[in-house]
Amino acid sequence: MSTTTPAADPATTATAGGTASAPPELRVGVIGLGFAGSTHLDAFQSLDGARVVALAGQEPDRLQELGTSRGVDDLYADWEDLVARDDLDIVSIGVPNALHHPIAMAALESGKHVFCEKPVATTGDLAAEMVAAAVANDRVLEVAYNHRRRADVAYLASYLADDPIGEIYHARASWLRRSGIPGLGSWFTSRRTAGGGPLIDLGSHVLDIALHLMGEPRAVTVSAVAASALGRAGRGGGSKARAASDGTHEFDVEDFASALIRFDTGASLHLEAAWASYSKAHEDIEVELLGSTGGVRLHVDDYATDDTLTLYSDVAGAPTVSHPRVHVPAGHHRSVIDGFLRSIRAGEGAAAPRHVGHYGEYALHRSRIVDACYESAATGHEVELDGAGE
Ligand SMILES: NC(=O)c1ccc[n+]([C@@H]2O[C@H](COP(=O)([O-])OP(=O)(O)OC[C@H]3O[C@@H](n4cnc5c(N)ncnc54)[C@H](O)[C@@H]3O)[C@@H](O)[C@H]2O)c1
Repeated sequence: MSTTTPAADPATTATAGGTASAPPELRVGVIGLGFAGSTHLDAFQSLDGARVVALAGQEPDRLQELGTSRGVDDLYADWEDLVARDDLDIVSIGVPNALHHPIAMAALESGKHVFCEKPVATTGDLAAEMVAAAVANDRVLEVAYNHRRRADVAYLASYLADDPIGEIYHARASWLRRSGIPGLGSWFTSRRTAGGGPLIDLGSHVLDIALHLMGEPRAVTVSAVAASALGRAGRGGGSKARAASDGTHEFDVEDFASALIRFDTGASLHLEAAWASYSKAHEDIEVELLGSTGGVRLHVDDYATDDTLTLYSDVAGAPTVSHPRVHVPAGHHRSVIDGFLRSIRAGEGAAAPRHVGHYGEYALHRSRIVDACYESAATGHEVELDGAGE
């Protein structure tokens, strides 16, 4: 169901002489030392054909420790000094959401490919500028939708490619937590630095999975609600709450959002995201597709790696439920970054094919949908999406 055409594998491309030629090593600068940045660093270092040569982040001890343990010599406190280098092919962005746009723009405009954490930007307009810069400079812009790379999601995509559930008329996608506001009081819970709460944070992932499995329909209208009853009261932070040094918890984003999205295909999607909620939720990712002749459900409880899939159909006229056994290995970021490196290689040469998404187009569509959700929740009205075809 995906519209993505896999890029050619450069490692298996033979030269005219019949021998495989190793492509030149791509030089990478990684920005950010938290979960995202260190995961990018390890993923790039583990892949052939790329090498991290520069690292930036604002925790000096962690910077030194990562530099030493991962063999990166050039270390910077500020992203500007890393991006200013003229010997990097790739900039990898693992920093607070509001910094994605300025870093990506500087990197793309100076001729570097960009691997960016989700959400691609804090607003759709900023995401559109990033895509335009990627197009203008013919650089790959890839976004870390790592959960889509789960083996169970890949299994569903390949199952759906054979059209076993007929016309998909509705989907449900949610990521719901009982008590898991990340960094309550940190950049995560400030609209200025994060752009929003669980909708832009967790919702980005399950929206991505649903759109991917539905075959990338274009959103036409959105109606959404949002609430922040727990976070504003300093509740729901779980064990990972990071109070500010003065003990306060800045919180001006939602902790819960729910949306109904209609698509140009006539299908619809109920999207829900919660960082915290007094509910049966634990740490639940769920994506369910309803079709005219069958259905599928992905349910990942607390990052489970087994028993996540259910297929619904009729067999010989009887309602039937099956549970394909698909184990989900770790390394989803590594898988996205591997695809990113292949896109770069496939894009080298004037006649090389660009696959859809080469310049971050998927991420832009998701960003427009999230924007529309926030606008609808703020105004209390359904929102039509303008640039549905951009
Ligand atoms: N795809 C995923 O599964 C996933 C998981 C977690 C986080 N994320 C995303 O990754 C990004 C970072 O999240 P995190 O949890 O790693 O955050 P974090 O707060 O743990 O780390 C942020 C890093 O950015 C660095 N930084 C901030 N300002 C900087 C500057 N001016 N120059 C250089 N470095 C700077 C900090 O020093 C820090 O090392 C966010 O966009 C988040 O949404 C994605």
